[in-house]
Amino acid sequence: MPSDTPPRDWREEPDGASIDHTRYTAWVDAARDVQGWYSDMSAALWDAFLGQQAAWHIEGDMVEIGCAYGRAAMMLGLHTRPEETLRLIDYKTNHVTEAPARIRPHSPGQVTAIQSYSERLDIAHLPMRGTRFMHIDGDHGRWGLHNDMALADHTLAADGLLVLDDFLAPQFMGVTLGAIEWMAQHPQSFEFIMVGFNKAYLARPRFAGEYLHFIRDALPAHLHALGHHDFSLWLTDERRACSCFGITQRQYDRDFITREFAMGKPDKRADGKPEL
Ligand SMILES: C[S@@+](CC[C@H](N)C(=O)[O-])C[C@H]1O[C@@H](n2cnc3c(N)ncnc32)[C@H](O)[C@@H]1O
Repeated sequence: MPSDTPPRDWREEPDGASIDHTRYTAWVDAARDVQGWYSDMSAALWDAFLGQQAAWHIEGDMVEIGCAYGRAAMMLGLHTRPEETLRLIDYKTNHVTEAPARIRPHSPGQVTAIQSYSERLDIAHLPMRGTRFMHIDGDHGRWGLHNDMALADHTLAADGLLVLDDFLAPQFMGVTLGAIEWMAQHPQSFEFIMVGFNKAYLARPRFAGEYLHFIRDALPAHLHALGHHDFSLWLTDERRACSCFGITQRQYDRDFITREFAMGKPDKRADGKPEL
């Protein structure tokens, strides 16, 4: 249900002073001994995006394909609201029993598990356009990505966020090939908004601009406030050609590296941020 609280204007909060640290801190405690392939930096990035979705009053469930021990899903569980459901999909029996049990004590919402290969999943298990955050971290192959992107297209809400694990990872080239192929065949479905720290972040084209402004105007403050300083955000192409941020370890001691800076020219904006 929509809340009566007016949406927070994140542009008024450039210093990170009002950033809520509680879920990130809770994740650090709850996930400390949970095995997995999910970094503290990814946790901080997800905390920022999920917090911003709450500030925008975005509603919907969450889905992860490939939950394993629940390390990443723990962050999703911490951000669910009581009326929301986190759906965890994995084909392994131990994962679909142990991960939800580990997350439930930390999750205000429901945590359900679906034991299945995502290729065999009955699409009716996922609410149509009812998911606000989805992580694809299962099959890791080209055709698996085709399948999982189609599931995401069915279930992701108009203002939701889709995350692909191991995008651009040399170990799993099928992820990158499969995702780009699927997107070329379905150009209206998703747009890249950020790539880095082993993941790609995608939004629906009509809402991508909101996320891009959030990345530029609020994400650095959030990361710094959580103690993550080792990053730079790159936007180095013509914005009509490619407006996807890259995020890497820190270079040139700058939060942002613009096209102008990369070409040795003066920044267009006094604050050193890229134009959008
Ligand atoms: C890299 S692990 C996921 C890591 C996890 N998200 C984390 O937070 O650490 C990949 C998981 O995907 C599951 N998996 C692999 N292929 C799958 C498929 N086609 N459908 C569903 N789950 C799959 C595996 O059983 C494994 O648990």
